[in-house]
Amino acid sequence: MQTEPILKMKGISKKFGSVQALYQVDFELYPNEILGLLGDNGAGKSTLIKIISGVYAPDEGQIFIYGKPVIITNPASAKELGIETVYQDLALATKLNIAENIFLGREKMKRILQTPIQVLDKKKMEAETKPLLERLRIALDPRLKVGTLSGGQRQATAIAKSVFWEAKILIMDEPTAALGVAETAKVRQIILDLKKHGASVILISHNLEDVFSVADRAIVLRGGMRVGDRIIKDTTRDDIVKLMVSGERFDKNSA
Ligand SMILES: Nc1ncnc2c1ncn2[C@@H]1O[C@H](COP(=O)(O)OP(=O)(O)OP(=O)(O)O)[C@@H](O)[C@H]1O
Ligand SMILES: [Mg+2]
Repeated sequence: MQTEPILKMKGISKKFGSVQALYQVDFELYPNEILGLLGDNGAGKSTLIKIISGVYAPDEGQIFIYGKPVIITNPASAKELGIETVYQDLALATKLNIAENIFLGREKMKRILQTPIQVLDKKKMEAETKPLLERLRIALDPRLKVGTLSGGQRQATAIAKSVFWEAKILIMDEPTAALGVAETAKVRQIILDLKKHGASVILISHNLEDVFSVADRAIVLRGGMRVGDRIIKDTTRDDIVKLMVSGERFDKNSA
């Protein structure tokens, strides 16, 4: 798949005080690819995706979207570039229903008859949410309150929200960490559906089975450095675990 990466990072470094969280990391994500981002605790995975999603600025290095240099200064500018992140805490409003959560912060409004008074257009938001959920094969009523949903259903709602806002790059940090077997299977299926619909996904997971069941490729970090890059169908779980615990420092296949 040697097309142009949708996202490319070159020489990314980030220090927190004296801790070198990332050192000279190169990273590339291809169009329509599911990429596993792996590494032991403290390897630098969350720091790297927070740089992509505009939470942190790198100390050095460059970011390119479709070959064009970009500076991602904050989460809003990441969203404008089509980068959406589903964090573990999901940031959903439990008292609101699914449709209202999808439109949270970007609500549809309508006027009351001939007055200038604006109110929420719940019907419209629900009507737009329904086909979205159907497309993602999420069997939920848009009017359900998020507080009544299971962990997996909330995860599905957060993913649907990102899809609705047309994420081209969807980042997920440990999406299955708190889920049961059936819910994990559902989230994996949604990730595959996203790919079918043309998105690229960066998947951080401690669960190697997540990565082996859905990902095309995996990048491994260790001690803030990129130590491996593997095509999933050509590698083994053992090989990946070895990289995680004792990866060589310079496994750069620089292009
Ligand atoms: N805001 C911060 N302030 C200080 N140190 C930080 C901060 N964020 C991360 N670090 C440090 O940077 C290193 C990388 O952390 P990071 O959270 O990126 O790791 P991770 O790969 O996501 O780990 P985990 O699997 O445990 O989530 C760690 O040593 C961590 O302690
Ligand atoms: Mg992390």
